[in-house]
Amino acid sequence: MRLPRILVFAGSIRTGSFSASLAGLAAKELAQMACEPVLLSLADYPMPIYDGDLEAHEGVPAAASQLRDQLARADGVFIVTPEYNAGLPPLLKNALDWASRVRGGEGDAFKGPVFAIGSSSPGGLGGYRAAMMLRQTLALGLGALVLAEQVMLAGASKAFDERGDFHDEKARERLRAVMTTLIEQAALRAGLRA
Ligand SMILES: Cc1cc2nc3c(=O)[nH]c(=O)nc-3n(C[C@H](O)[C@H](O)[C@H](O)COP(=O)(O)O)c2cc1C
Repeated sequence: MRLPRILVFAGSIRTGSFSASLAGLAAKELAQMACEPVLLSLADYPMPIYDGDLEAHEGVPAAASQLRDQLARADGVFIVTPEYNAGLPPLLKNALDWASRVRGGEGDAFKGPVFAIGSSSPGGLGGYRAAMMLRQTLALGLGALVLAEQVMLAGASKAFDERGDFHDEKARERLRAVMTTLIEQAALRAGLRA
């Protein structure tokens, strides 16, 4: 029996991004678990800002179809978002909006996989407002099943050591716990044994 495929990506492509660090660490943890982790960067899926006229004249960008296919092929998806002005960064919202405009293709990008949410911020709130907005977009906007458990990393600028691991063992335990639940729920939904 195949292992559940877990897609991981961050809503930031900034050099030294804390969200990307958290996504990378999640992929590292997942690699030690019973799953097939796939870490991607939105830098490899460049898209213009969504515009209905652009879509009408040129259709959806190839990167949107490719991202949609990655989502549809996954059994579980872990998205880590930064927080911009108490909400989602445009890079992530735009990628989700474009992916939601793709028609056809195998599987369902949003109703197929189980989603888990992560957020990070150098501040004390851990990006939880962006996490709430991501939950709203995924669950209410796109009909996705989103786990109640989430990872919120406050003080992100001081959270990682030089190898990219957490300083704080409790943070690692939390990440592992959420990834474990994601694998279990993704396997269950896909009819695989966890
Ligand atoms: C436009 C903008 C708005 C921001 N607003 C918030 C905010 O509301 N809350 C917060 O915790 N951090 C905010 N920040 C700081 C980000 O959390 C910080 O830049 C973070 O490093 C971005 O995530 P990244 O490291 O994954 O790129 C903001 C940053 C920018 C550029």
